Amino acid sequence: MRTIKEIYINGEFVAPKGTQIFDLINPTSNIKEAEVVLGNEEDVQLAVEAAKEALKAFSQTSKKERIQYLKQLHDAVEARIPELVDVMVREYGGTYQFASMINTYSLDDFKAMTEVLNDFEFQQNVGKSKVNLQPVGVVGIIIPWNMSNGFICTKIASAIAAGCTVVIKPSEMSAQQTQVMAECIHAAGLPKGVVNIVNGLGNIVGAEITRNPGISKISFTGSTNVGRIIAKGAVDTMKRVTLELGGKSPNIILDDANLQEAIPMAVIAAFLNSGQACAAATRLIVPATKLEEINTLVKTTVANFKVGNPADHDTAIGPMVSKIQFEKVQDYIKIGQEEGATLLIGGMGKPQGLEAGNFTRATVFTNVKNHMRIAQEEIFGPVLSIIPYDNEEEAIEIANDTIYGLAAYISSSDTDRANRVAARIDAGRICINGLSHDSKAPFGGFKQSGIGREYGLFGLEEYLEPKAILG
Ligand code: NAI
Ligand code: MG
Repeated sequence: MRTIKEIYINGEFVAPKGTQIFDLINPTSNIKEAEVVLGNEEDVQLAVEAAKEALKAFSQTSKKERIQYLKQLHDAVEARIPELVDVMVREYGGTYQFASMINTYSLDDFKAMTEVLNDFEFQQNVGKSKVNLQPVGVVGIIIPWNMSNGFICTKIASAIAAGCTVVIKPSEMSAQQTQVMAECIHAAGLPKGVVNIVNGLGNIVGAEITRNPGISKISFTGSTNVGRIIAKGAVDTMKRVTLELGGKSPNIILDDANLQEAIPMAVIAAFLNSGQACAAATRLIVPATKLEEINTLVKTTVANFKVGNPADHDTAIGPMVSKIQFEKVQDYIKIGQEEGATLLIGGMGKPQGLEAGNFTRATVFTNVKNHMRIAQEEIFGPVLSIIPYDNEEEAIEIANDTIYGLAAYISSSDTDRANRVAARIDAGRICINGLSHDSKAPFGGFKQSGIGREYGLFGLEEYLEPKAILG
């Protein structure tokens, strides 16, 4: 059995000062596959010192040098794609389909940021003055388990482009995935101390990153609850924060939508990353007059979705990341039934033959009322709520009746109409007629889905501090 014994500080793989061991359990089998020695506060302090030292020279690098580093990162990640996919499937239970897509997006992150950087001016004229856009400083990156290496690539692409140095704390559950990425970053040959990685627990390593005065900004992805804790702690030292948090994204099917296309797409969008996705389209808002037809289409689509071994290329839904996550999803399925929603397909318990892993049944509730907990709270598993509406106005009202505002989806055969509806939805990213991704378009949340944006120009600006020079 493998033990991950090292963290990455100042360009070297070193033993952490922390000694606590954390078990890495394969979610498909619930067998312990490896373990990791976790870092502690002192490891964060050492990593911050290295990042501060590296910042002196790195903050002064030219656009050309940063573009070269982005290329080196791109190439180093590209060289290990099959392993990055494999380790995501094994450690996290991400499906082969999802893991393959995400790792391609990681390469796009470096390419897109290179293009943004090419067109970007770090010195601008404003009024009678010059404004220099200076790197914000050392950035603390705190990320969850649901797309760990994807988050690292998105965030370091922006940080490097801006001239920042970073200390990354991945989820303790992602140590094997982190190890491969750390090796990629090492192979990329960045100056030492530009990227540092400390494995550890949220309340120890994450808390020290939040507290440490050497860190100027935190870029966090994860739950809204932890986002709140980090934002509160960050304000003590006035750290800037970018928070990419939870969602309960609406998918509005307008009455003129092509249901044969929109409904299978809706199921894919709901069960993205086995439902463990912040942007998952978990509220399907449909015309009441078409509810029966849509129920039938959803049921047929879900019945054809394979839940199973994430390594199989045709698996659509893998296991939940942990037993805790499995139990959480089970609880919500129970809550949905108690609240009086109609169970259309799925339900509690594990699918037959998949008892060993954290597999949950692909579950859809229909006739859901938007005030129910299953329609308001982020479940983070394959559970979809179908909510009927009487008219377009009510559809928009339901879509916006949420504490979240990360993503939204709209289907209509009339794109002008879809755009008119999009203008009235409070969400950071809206997909019309299908699922798509754009590595240059901003991503982030309205309301309690977060603060700030990632990707492209908007993402880059979050890592820069404007300095006006007058006279
Ligand atoms: P989490 O939000 O607790 O963990 C995210 C990261 O924050 C991890 O690296 C964790 O170690 C760190 N962290 C935890 N406590 C911290 C603290 N006090 N200070 C600094 N860092 C801290 O996510 P968790 O607990 O694994 O998942 C719980 C629920 O959150 C899920 O069931 C899901 O609903 C939601 N979630 C949402 C995500 C999203 O992308 N929207 C991602 C992960 C979880
Ligand atoms: Mg937590």
